[in-house]
Amino acid sequence: IKNDNQILVIFGASGDLTARKLIPAIHNLYKKNYLPEKYAIVGVGRTAYNDEEFRKKVVYDNEHLKQENGDSKEEFASLVHYHALDTSKAEDYPGLAKRLYSIDEEFGTNCNVIFYLSVPPSLYGVIPKHLASAGLNEEKTGWTRLIIEKPFGYDLQSAQELNKVLLEDYNEDQIYRIDHYLGKETVQNLLVPRFSNSIFEPLWNRNYIHRVEITSAESVGVEKRGGYYDGSGAMRDMVQNHLLQLIALVAMEPPVKSDAFSIRNEKLKVFQSLRPLTPEEIRKNVIRGQYMASKIKGEEVIGYREEEGVPKDSRTETYVALKFFIDNWRWAGVPFYIRSGKKLPTRVSEVVIHFKPNHHHIFSNNQEINKQNMLVIRIQPDEGILLKFGMKVPGAGFEVENVNMDFSYSDLTDAYVPDAYERLLLDCMQGDATLYARGDSVLAAWEFIDPILKAWKEDQSIPIYGYPAGTWGPENADELIEGKNMAWRYPC
Ligand code: BG6
Repeated sequence: IKNDNQILVIFGASGDLTARKLIPAIHNLYKKNYLPEKYAIVGVGRTAYNDEEFRKKVVYDNEHLKQENGDSKEEFASLVHYHALDTSKAEDYPGLAKRLYSIDEEFGTNCNVIFYLSVPPSLYGVIPKHLASAGLNEEKTGWTRLIIEKPFGYDLQSAQELNKVLLEDYNEDQIYRIDHYLGKETVQNLLVPRFSNSIFEPLWNRNYIHRVEITSAESVGVEKRGGYYDGSGAMRDMVQNHLLQLIALVAMEPPVKSDAFSIRNEKLKVFQSLRPLTPEEIRKNVIRGQYMASKIKGEEVIGYREEEGVPKDSRTETYVALKFFIDNWRWAGVPFYIRSGKKLPTRVSEVVIHFKPNHHHIFSNNQEINKQNMLVIRIQPDEGILLKFGMKVPGAGFEVENVNMDFSYSDLTDAYVPDAYERLLLDCMQGDATLYARGDSVLAAWEFIDPILKAWKEDQSIPIYGYPAGTWGPENADELIEGKNMAWRYPC
């Protein structure tokens, strides 16, 4: 792995993501010798830390930093610096530039800089503008890259505006829109069974696939993020980004090569082929819900409206399920189903490919569609792949039973599965944007989601259903899957 010497500047350095994900990811890269010879981290934020205080917070006292026997945190801590500034004030940025030039000189990083924006979305346009006004967008001797956290935009219009603002001072290939789902090993692996085996791809189309189902369930509620979440909801928080990215990987055409350009071109085409939902379909095929107080394993749990930071009359969805189609040659007529929610019975994300039944049934008990071949790609937890197929029950006659062929990542005992942030940061350090979302496809995804959000906002008669915390969401979602003996898969 070739890595240029460089500086990582983290905006929002005193925030949760920095201590929980970013610093531990860099620390792992450091331990594995993936960092370049000369590397510096600069935390930026409003809080007035000095370098030592910041090191104490994110390195020495950071419970998320794994320390193995004999590990010393000192050397790693010496890479970490802090610079206090008010991110919204342009006049503070020349001071940052000065500090970065001095660190650059000290470390010999050739003015290669990644700016990581782990800040409230309202600052996504502001910080890059101020950086540019201080000349920090210029690539004089090295390169400059921006990593922007989700959500990229609040709706189609704001995403378009944000793209436009960024492109005034940066090129598309300097902008890395992060979607941490793409950094998950199992999400990247969605492409491999399809495109490296000859047994799946010939079946991967409307002729053999009956429907595709994607579930992303969380057992937690909104925790301490009620304030943020209430302005977002499950559709913006999970579906517009993470789940549509999964759909793109499942549904895309084979890319010419496994590089950023080819893969991201194919993903864009999937987003462009999403059939827009009509007002009638939004009412019928998009089900939203909100968790209500309930008892889980004998313990009282509060409802969404009782959560900290959530208005008592909130109509924000904590669950969403939808049915839609991809209008292209491969998928014409195949329904896709997505559901995602908080306070569901378990934490699981999986993609389920349901294959069509045989045309002629010679074994009597093998006709139910839920008993047909099924490929389950488990994204988390218990990462792996499961193929369900019919086998003869030993004994008289021809009774068929579904059995599992099951692969688990945990069986690869010596395989190290990097955390999503570790993988994504490493890619950005090397200038590889394959696992980042490109501007055009983020907009295309918004184009599909936007009319749904508008309809929900404008038409109060579209219901939001309550569901008791700890259940699988509103029962109305079951009706989305039409057909005899067909239902969502309920992973346990
Ligand atoms: C985040 C959402 O992007 O993804 C959270 O904002 C959600 O609400 C999280 O909990 C889920 O990520 P993971 O990796 O735990 O599935």
